[in-house]
Amino acid sequence: RTVAVVLAGGTGTRLGLGIPKQLLKIAGKPIIEHTLAVFEAAPEIDEIIVLMATGHVEDARQIVEKAGLRKVTKVIEGGDTRNATTRIALDAVGPEDCNILFHDAVRPLLSGRIVRECVNALWSYAAVDVAIPSADTIIQVDDNDCITDIPVRSRLRRGQTPQAFRSPTIRAAYRIAEDDPDFAATDDCGVVLRYLPGTPIKVIDGSDENIKVTHPVDVHLADKLFQLAAAQAPRLTDHRSYSEELTGRTIVVFGG
Ligand code: CTP
Repeated sequence: RTVAVVLAGGTGTRLGLGIPKQLLKIAGKPIIEHTLAVFEAAPEIDEIIVLMATGHVEDARQIVEKAGLRKVTKVIEGGDTRNATTRIALDAVGPEDCNILFHDAVRPLLSGRIVRECVNALWSYAAVDVAIPSADTIIQVDDNDCITDIPVRSRLRRGQTPQAFRSPTIRAAYRIAEDDPDFAATDDCGVVLRYLPGTPIKVIDGSDENIKVTHPVDVHLADKLFQLAAAQAPRLTDHRSYSEELTGRTIVVFGG
């Protein structure tokens, strides 16, 4: 069994709207509805669990009902931090072993290809991350904003979601983390890396479009990307995203 956990427990302070950003409408639908629709359509996913921000669980339930999303089995309240929300999700998934994909509700442009590759990678790895190369040079700074390091760019990736795990692995990592008073993490692969060192975490290719709606500019970007996807829809095969289709075509042009 493979469960998609959609993390929507945040309130979107950086976007600064009066509502959690996952409820903002883009291309005619709330962001979270776009996200859920990808998992609903993915043949690899058996079940979807939604963790929603306090005070908005009912909003999320209504979206699920209206959209007729039949794979969604639970819509419950998230926690104070993203990792607290993950812990609640681990309880909600139930005790039997399964595959779990954690995905940010505010990445609505996830492709079916990424979901498929995550699930396939779980045959060989107990933990899987999704990332893209960094176009920018990444610099490390100290408290005075002075550079302390410039890591080699070819070794750097920008992490996205989903992050996928065999359930015993992610449960074990969080169990150990519980005893650490200095626990701090912003994602789930980070918890495995820190508390189960030595566990290989496979990285699969994300996409430029799989953006996390975080700042106001991202709303415009996501809207444009949905427009492009809609324009391309009749041509898109195999759940490929617009840029993947574009890349494919570019290769064909040069190859031909
Ligand atoms: N998230 C969550 N539970 C929390 C905090 C975040 O499930 N307590 C989710 C968000 O809903 C989002 C994803 O984690 O889908 C990525 O987090 P982020 O972009 O940081 O969302 P917010 O916390 O809502 O945004 P901000 O940091 O601007 O407040």
